[in-house]
Amino acid sequence: MIITIDGPAAAGKGTLSQKLAQKYKLAYFDTGMIYRAVGIDLITKNIDPDNDVQALKSAENMTFSKMMELSKHSEFRSNLGGQAASKVASKTPVRQALLKMQQDFAHNPQFADGQQAQGVVYDGRDTGTVVCPNADIKIFITASPEVRAMRRHKEFLEKGITSDYNEVLAQTKERDLRDSSRASAPLKPANDAIIIDTSDMSIEDVYNNVCQIIDSKKQ
Ligand code: DC
Repeated sequence: MIITIDGPAAAGKGTLSQKLAQKYKLAYFDTGMIYRAVGIDLITKNIDPDNDVQALKSAENMTFSKMMELSKHSEFRSNLGGQAASKVASKTPVRQALLKMQQDFAHNPQFADGQQAQGVVYDGRDTGTVVCPNADIKIFITASPEVRAMRRHKEFLEKGITSDYNEVLAQTKERDLRDSSRASAPLKPANDAIIIDTSDMSIEDVYNNVCQIIDSKKQ
């Protein structure tokens, strides 16, 4: 079974996808990690993430194990890492270079310990539209920029990272604009995706709602 969970930054995709993967015994692929890995790869080499040639070179050389190694970098999950990821993700050749790696995972899905899985939960922006257009279940999770910025702001504070809400809100809007206006695979729900606005919902509510959708489709 292939499930795709797409949506804008900080909509709650990560937590939801991981809970679903655990419940339905599926592998989990956070596709944002590969764009973050390319961004961090460039930052550690002192290269501007806007550099087209170097971003493509990094994407062409990206592997699953390299991505896991780069994910240990202290800036991987920070705003800096997110902004760099968003910049490299706006480049069509970079997206094309990283597509096969994402699609191959569905043919040979594995849990973190290397064991074979019977399917995947993909978490990203275009997994239902481009990566797996034939997915069994497609969910598009969204929430207002204010709600998402507040969630991210609290997350940073909980992790001990200094954060200013207004700055996070401005960055959320900036990333939304870049993610949804890029020429290649702009952020949008697949035609057959179920759209859920989580602005006024708890994570538990969203999880229960999506489980019901999956269970009814499985019958
Ligand atoms: O989900 P995230 O914040 O880790 O994603 C980082 C960036 O990567 C985000 O700004 C958009 C990009 N991305 C993408 O373009 N396509 C995906 N499938 C996943 C992420």
